[in-house]
Amino acid sequence: MSGRGKWGSKVGFILAASGSAVGLGNIWRFPYTVSKNGGALFVLIYLIAVLFIAYPVLIAEVSLGRFSNKNPVGAFKSIKTKGKWKYVGYLGVLTGFMILSYYAVVAGWTVGYFFKALTGKFAKMNNEAATQAYTNFTSNSLLQIILFTAFILLTVYVVSRGVSSGIEKFSKILMPVLFGILLLLLIRSLTMQGASKGLEFYLKPDFSAFKPRVILEAMGQAFFSLSLGMGTMITYGSYVNKRENLPSATAWVAFFDTFIAFVAGLIIFPAVYAAGMQATSGGPGLVFQILPVIFAKMPGGVIFGSLFFLLLSIAALTSTISVLEVPVAFFIDEKKWNRKKSALTVGAITIIFGVPSALSQGGNSFFSKLPLVNKGFLDLWDIIWGNLSLSIGAFFVAIFVGYIWKTSNALLEITKGTEKFKLAFFWMISIKFVSPVLILLIFLGIIL
Ligand code: TRP
Repeated sequence: MSGRGKWGSKVGFILAASGSAVGLGNIWRFPYTVSKNGGALFVLIYLIAVLFIAYPVLIAEVSLGRFSNKNPVGAFKSIKTKGKWKYVGYLGVLTGFMILSYYAVVAGWTVGYFFKALTGKFAKMNNEAATQAYTNFTSNSLLQIILFTAFILLTVYVVSRGVSSGIEKFSKILMPVLFGILLLLLIRSLTMQGASKGLEFYLKPDFSAFKPRVILEAMGQAFFSLSLGMGTMITYGSYVNKRENLPSATAWVAFFDTFIAFVAGLIIFPAVYAAGMQATSGGPGLVFQILPVIFAKMPGGVIFGSLFFLLLSIAALTSTISVLEVPVAFFIDEKKWNRKKSALTVGAITIIFGVPSALSQGGNSFFSKLPLVNKGFLDLWDIIWGNLSLSIGAFFVAIFVGYIWKTSNALLEITKGTEKFKLAFFWMISIKFVSPVLILLIFLGIIL
């Protein structure tokens, strides 16, 4: 079977897919994007985007993967042998390289912060000290390169061991424990002085702040967080057994993922105000500047802080695994490489692509503030690949499933492991009309 495998069970798939979905996207990117886009209104649009655009696309990707039993390029080819559809798969493979290249940098920060927390560096830290510590840490070029390279190598190691033995095992215990610590953090954050202003920023929409950009970012974040638009869920779907109930398995994944992101915001924003910071000024460092302050104000902060960053590193790992898996499955299926060679090659290339991102938070002044765009390389890469490319990919998945494969055929696949799919009609309307039209309008709205 040239290195292909299957999940052990439905729970195995839910855990592995949630492992892919839940990661830095929820705990790092979501709060940072909320802050960039003005708060509660973004949160509201995000939730709508998950329900009406991302969840239907998730079902489409997983069913496409299970039906074709292939990587994204192979999946498009197996339904439409001729034509340009396979390029959507290629775009996904390319996007996988690019997302991994900067995602692993932030994942490296979580590892660095684990050691900082463990050695008591955050004890009694206030807001200025935490910001200073973050800047010192991210501008240390050598350390950044070491951490991010190590993270990619770790991902390569897990992926080269294969699907269910590697990925599934890692996802099993992690989620409940991570969630437990999040709840503790939530209690601490909500009981800080000044927390209510943060809640207001996070939960009370200011409709006058609306810009079309906010919808684009909300939609991009929904795709990013659910690992959509580049074929991760097509690939993971290809390892799902025909017996499994897809509508319910995917609903669980979407629910867990959204809930965890929501709780992360509920932790971060009250603490931002309590620390006297501006909620709208947070860059990619937001979470790394705020969490140490919360841990410093918490009994057992050293223990909880270390445990939290350790779990976050593992959550990031189960996500990087799923990103790397896309190009790797492509080389295994289409180029007949073996798993090890594929994983090593993709990993090596990604390390090269990742260097500018690793140096973009102070390590190198050019990459930290690129001319013209006035942003760091990591921020720019995240917009191009983590937002635009995923939205384009999701658009074509919807068109492909809606009109080429056809929703009637997709529904046969979706309902294989279950008698009924109550949302079949809602799903069909969404995939054929709502998702593609909205994605297109949002793009036009930005360009025009
Ligand atoms: N969803 C993951 C997170 O939130 C990141 C991720 C994994 C991803 N696979 C992906 C993002 C595929 C986009 C596409 O951390």
